[in-house]
Amino acid sequence: MNAVRYYSRGGNTKILAEAIAEELQVEALGIDAKIEEEVETLFLGGALYAYGIDKKLKAYIEQLDKTKIKKVVVFSTSWLSKHAIALIKKGLKEKEIPYVDEFIYARGKPNNKEIANAKEIAKKYK
Ligand SMILES: Cc1cc2nc3c(=O)[nH]c(=O)nc-3n(C[C@H](O)[C@H](O)[C@H](O)COP(=O)(O)O)c2cc1C
Repeated sequence: MNAVRYYSRGGNTKILAEAIAEELQVEALGIDAKIEEEVETLFLGGALYAYGIDKKLKAYIEQLDKTKIKKVVVFSTSWLSKHAIALIKKGLKEKEIPYVDEFIYARGKPNNKEIANAKEIAKKYK
């Protein structure tokens, strides 16, 4: 089973989450939804806000259960910086939760090409 969780203030990251979820035929859920069952690949997304990720996303990463998650694919949107990806991966590393090197990213509101790319990457983990 795969899962998609995201934090999005303005809707941009949500667009990527929904594209990934559509490809995987699962639901894209916000970070109030805990991971209850074992997940093969968790797609976890969040954006950068003033050089940081939201503290709710940080807290979500901190409560993840490594015994339930085989690996994570990180996704993000921002104006310019991909730093949110590094911050999410840092949190995962601290929890000893494996993540893959590749990530899904869009600059601001995802365009059709970025949406297609997100789906292409998600497809590999089906
Ligand atoms: C308060 C605020 C601070 C931001 N700071 C940064 C930043 O430091 N670097 C950057 O590249 N983008 C920054 N952005 C842009 C967001 O990362 C970008 O709009 C992103 O797509 C928002 O995702 P969301 O719509 O899912 O909330 C900022 C946006 C906001 C609203």
